[in-house]
Amino acid sequence: TSGRADAEPKKKKPTVVLIVGMAGTGKTTLLQRLNSHLHTVGKPPYVVNLDPAVTHVPYGPNIDIRDTVDYKNVMKQYGLGPNGGILTSCNLFATRFDQVIELCESKTDLDYILVDTAGQIEIFTWSASGAIITEAFASSFPTVVVYIVDTPRCTSPQTFMSNMLQAVSILYKTKLPLILAFNKVDVAKHDFAIEWMEDFEKFQEAIDSDSSYAASLSRSLCMVLDEFYRKLQSVGVSAYTGEGMPEFFEAVAGGAREYDSTY
Ligand code: GTP
Repeated sequence: TSGRADAEPKKKKPTVVLIVGMAGTGKTTLLQRLNSHLHTVGKPPYVVNLDPAVTHVPYGPNIDIRDTVDYKNVMKQYGLGPNGGILTSCNLFATRFDQVIELCESKTDLDYILVDTAGQIEIFTWSASGAIITEAFASSFPTVVVYIVDTPRCTSPQTFMSNMLQAVSILYKTKLPLILAFNKVDVAKHDFAIEWMEDFEKFQEAIDSDSSYAASLSRSLCMVLDEFYRKLQSVGVSAYTGEGMPEFFEAVAGGAREYDSTY
């Protein structure tokens, strides 16, 4: 016999979805929505909370940084302010992150591992702990980064541009497939953003009336970013109404395929 009948099918690894975004963009609310969506239409995900300072987590995380480090104690013990306290808590947690990976790997029959990050985006994207945690996930599982955009707050061309520059910097730092999730589409649709990303002349028209230095910089940058936009997947979602969930998971699947073919 060829022995093929005995061969075990290769176990499909779950996809890690790292949720990042500026404070108040809706990371926690969206994660709660993704969690309940998967409970309804798919397999329950494994959920990791990496925000040490959050007081209320509306979803039941399987792994919670707050079970390991007490951020208020860390502040007291090291004489730190709130941001230093969060940063140091994340660094302390990162030293034991191999245990988190082991736990995730021990779970069978998982499709997704959803990860909520600290409110201050730079703590995750610019700290040693953020890099360690991202690399630990990305070397064990297909990993995609979801950058949440507060859609109603970026309808002006200049705030949109500064938001996109933040997204570019995340792409540079993590080098992982990046998905832009335009959240809060129940308040403002993200059509304007898609139009500006697909056609930089439309963006230039929108900024035409502004003759400031920043506006002229934005005019030049939109051509540079054209290439960046082509590599991205963008979806409009509402953590409130649940709009855009199927499109969100299609984008995540696309990101996982990109990971498989690149990393
Ligand atoms: P930090 O913990 O500060 O980082 O915030 P966060 O990014 O986790 O945002 P959070 O989920 O706390 O949401 C911020 C605010 O936006 C809250 O008042 C939410 O109710 C609101 N919000 C989140 N998602 C949506 C949405 O899809 N639509 C609307 N209208 N509001 C939303």
